[in-house]
Amino acid sequence: MCGIVGAVGLDTVENFLIDGLRRLEYRGYDSAGIAVLQPDGAVRRARSVGKVAMLDASRDRAITGHTGIAHTRWATHGGATENNAHPHRAGRVTLVHNGIIENFQELRRSLQADGYSFQSETDTEVVAGLLDRALARTGSAKAAMLDVVPQLQGAYALAVLFDTEPGMLFGARHGAPLLAGMKAGAGFIASDALALTGYASHVCYLENGDLVAVTKDGIEVFGVDGVKHQRELHKSSGSAILADKGNYKYFMLKEIHEQAEVVGRTLTAHVDALGSTVKQHEGLDLSRANRILIIGCGTAALAGRVAEYWLEGLAGIPVDVDIASEFRYRDPVLSPDDVAIFISQSGETADTLEAMRLCKEAGAKTIALVNTLHSTMARDADLVLPTLAGPEIGVASTKAFTCQLIVLASLALLVAKQRGRLTGEQEVEQVTDLLEVPGLISEALDIESQIAEMAVELATKQTVLYLGRHQFFPLALEGALKLKEISYIHAEGYAAGELKHGPIALIEPGVSVIAIAPHDALFAKTQSSIEQVLARGGSVIAITDEAGAKALASTPVDIVKLPSSSGMATAFACTIAIQLIAYYVAVEKGTDVDQPRNLAKSVTVE
Ligand code: F6R
Repeated sequence: MCGIVGAVGLDTVENFLIDGLRRLEYRGYDSAGIAVLQPDGAVRRARSVGKVAMLDASRDRAITGHTGIAHTRWATHGGATENNAHPHRAGRVTLVHNGIIENFQELRRSLQADGYSFQSETDTEVVAGLLDRALARTGSAKAAMLDVVPQLQGAYALAVLFDTEPGMLFGARHGAPLLAGMKAGAGFIASDALALTGYASHVCYLENGDLVAVTKDGIEVFGVDGVKHQRELHKSSGSAILADKGNYKYFMLKEIHEQAEVVGRTLTAHVDALGSTVKQHEGLDLSRANRILIIGCGTAALAGRVAEYWLEGLAGIPVDVDIASEFRYRDPVLSPDDVAIFISQSGETADTLEAMRLCKEAGAKTIALVNTLHSTMARDADLVLPTLAGPEIGVASTKAFTCQLIVLASLALLVAKQRGRLTGEQEVEQVTDLLEVPGLISEALDIESQIAEMAVELATKQTVLYLGRHQFFPLALEGALKLKEISYIHAEGYAAGELKHGPIALIEPGVSVIAIAPHDALFAKTQSSIEQVLARGGSVIAITDEAGAKALASTPVDIVKLPSSSGMATAFACTIAIQLIAYYVAVEKGTDVDQPRNLAKSVTVE
């Protein structure tokens, strides 16, 4: 969602700010802005609706200095207008903000009573006003921060520039990520480590309730009581090159192609390739667990729904999969014998974090299956199962999803072993299958040019339905989600067996159905659903394998033939097909594939 960058002590801070904003573009936003403290002591701003490139092209080149803050905004309070874009300014305070200040109306009224007026509809401008009023009263920037931050309710991250402290930036974190960075002669602040890679030599991840003061000489973290907090400094990892598309047209395509590598890398953290056995993780013993809860949002939750089939089938343990935004409001019945797994690429999704808090309160063991290792979720969980997908920049999740699946597949084997449901021989057989997944993904990518051709026709459709059974049912949901989010075509996923209970009424000439139908034990059932669609004039694309293609040879369907595989591995090959379909249809439609409208990469508000 929104993104924050700031720096102090750079020669031309504006160049860093624009570069930092570019790196945060992937998070999703609809306006952007920078504010720089000029050598003459004045703070000047440039803001614009739309892309960072538009801000960069239109900004006044005379806006230059050593200290500044910048922001990409995803509209919540107030529309996407230049006036609502950050940075906001009140009196001697300039500020950017991620998150939502829940009590902003009450705070706004109190400022109005003191004669403040507002230029925007945002909750952010209210915080700037509060800080300006506190600065006038206390005479000190730090005292103003200590006065105002405890008044704010909600989840937020702030970066603040006071006219009275030209060599310093302040920050505050409560429920939205923020980190500080440093190198010799400069200090930084950002909401995402990617903004600082290549700039800061060291970074420090703030905790909830932390305030920070950053200067060119260092970072000071303290609490709302003003008492210093000790926070670890980490060497800044990664490289800015990670945020480069290389020869690919979009990050999404690059990330689809990276999957063989990152799934392989993730797998080796969870299985021993030499012995073909699953690795034990310290503190992870589910032999006596009552049940597993899997909680996440969007694609992450769908990874959980695929794993439900694997965990129940292989390990014989009850599994309940929940969407975090529903879970947190439905009084779930929890027990200390439950193990709750939270799946998240970002590790910062507000609903999933809140669901984790509920489970912790109930005494359940919490496991974070996350891609961002310094995220709040990773830090708050009892145990972390990492996915090693690297930064995922395309808003539509691809490589994070397959990495989540490979961790869950390994976990299903581990739990099956712990519960005495997997012999040594079966373990070797199953792990050997998983070790073939990276190769299978590479081979599956051979369908790319065929999918690109099919996309021309699919892009003309009003409605596309996806069907699947067993583990391919959640993949049907994922296929539909992927297609609708980046191509804006109305798409729905159904369990193939549900077709005749309602959705079949939608079938008529012109409607396209994508059937995920590898030749498994349920193939004949899915084949009969395909026949039902064809009988009503719908057209069908069957995602299948050699045996499935043979069985469908005399059926008038378009075949996408994947390399043959079995068991859990097949889900990975099918995932490649649904990702490529969504990608090429979106390209055909000319949408903004990496930053689809209205969407954000990391949803840090409710
Ligand atoms: C869809 C997509 C989203 C995310 C969801 C959860 O392609 O990317 O549905 O999966 O917003 O995000 P994380 O995994 O960061 O918790």
